[in-house]
Amino acid sequence: MEQVNNKYQVQGVDLLSVVEKFGDPVYVYDASKIKKQYESLTGAFKGVDLHIKYAMKSNSNLSILKYIRSLGAGLDAVSINEVKLGLKAGFDPKNIIFTPSGVEFAEVEESIGLGVQLNIDSISALKKLGEKYGNKIPVSIRINPHIMAGGNHKISVGHIDSKFGVSIAYAEQVLEVIKSYDIDLNGVHMHTGSDILDADAFLKGAEVLFDFVKKVETIKFIDFGGGFKVPYKEGDIKVDIDDLGENITRAFNQFQDEYKKPLQLWFEPGKYLVSEAGLLLVKTNVVKPSPNRTFVVVNSGLNHLIRPMMYDAYHDIINISNLTASLQKYTVVGYICETDTFGEDRQLNEVQEGDILAIKNAGAYAFSMSSNYNSRFRPPEVLIVNGEVKLIRERETFDKLLDGQIEIDI
Ligand code: LLP
Repeated sequence: MEQVNNKYQVQGVDLLSVVEKFGDPVYVYDASKIKKQYESLTGAFKGVDLHIKYAMKSNSNLSILKYIRSLGAGLDAVSINEVKLGLKAGFDPKNIIFTPSGVEFAEVEESIGLGVQLNIDSISALKKLGEKYGNKIPVSIRINPHIMAGGNHKISVGHIDSKFGVSIAYAEQVLEVIKSYDIDLNGVHMHTGSDILDADAFLKGAEVLFDFVKKVETIKFIDFGGGFKVPYKEGDIKVDIDDLGENITRAFNQFQDEYKKPLQLWFEPGKYLVSEAGLLLVKTNVVKPSPNRTFVVVNSGLNHLIRPMMYDAYHDIINISNLTASLQKYTVVGYICETDTFGEDRQLNEVQEGDILAIKNAGAYAFSMSSNYNSRFRPPEVLIVNGEVKLIRERETFDKLLDGQIEIDI
């Protein structure tokens, strides 16, 4: 998004014109930003056989998936429905890694039928798989390397007390199960957290995985998961992707020499690819002074962007209707009947009722974590691609709220 002649534009498209056309609130995504992020990542890892598996949980709109496929990525899916959406978007099942966490074994079996790369996260599931399929299907394993990483305890998932993966403390047991059922273990995986800043967490985890891989001869890929930190405000620290690329490439290639067989390096970025590409455009319903602050109440809330309330996440907010007015301090809140503060004590160009505000970093975990809470509709999604504005999801209507409900006679 850039400011041109006191207007905010994406690829030359005035954002207010998007609101005029599709109404508000609306999510707007910039395809060129997704591409830029994708290319910066692949550019940082030129020295290895890199495979990107986009973490589709961050934004699973079919058109976004198709766009990311066109860039050359595969997918990281965490439910059978994500797998099916990925297939619908045209991904080759072999390019989808399915990492279920603690799902029913029937879901695991269904995914095998669909031909995806299965990534197992418990010894119990590994045994069941061995019993039923022996060495007929290659599988990978999610290891919990006991590392504290990530920007918030709720999104730190690679430490000893996290439910995810098989604890590295049980490596010997895993190896025994693999041996006794002759399982074809073709990969190892970790995902330690989200909003990770530096290479250290990845390198520490890599050492743990390398130690494990040394004991298995069939490994083809090592998957370091996602979690690269993106900036949420001006001047915010973000991951130095080139530095990270350099450090991980060095460690990886060193290990590959030791392993004496070619290895692929996989990553599963979600936020890094799509977070900054998205904006949630909302309208100011009410400007409401109170003794200690002035509230700006917008026609959205935690039903459309739950991250501020769920993780205390900071999302930058700008008034795109009035870029020249003087700065004033506001607390921007939603219209949900529950506390749903988007931003406290923010400096915004003076806000009038009716002004459109842009909430940044709404490309990842915004729509995908949205709900119909308070019986509100989800906004439409718009993708700006090659300078064209494309509607990629309609605004919900009242029927959506009735969908599936059964009215009984009372
Ligand atoms: N791989 C696995 C197995 C994951 O569980 C996740 C995210 C990712 C990759 C992608 O992580 P990313 O690159 O997007 O950080 N809703 C939270 C983030 C939760 C992430 C859950 N797993 C948020 O909005 O901050």
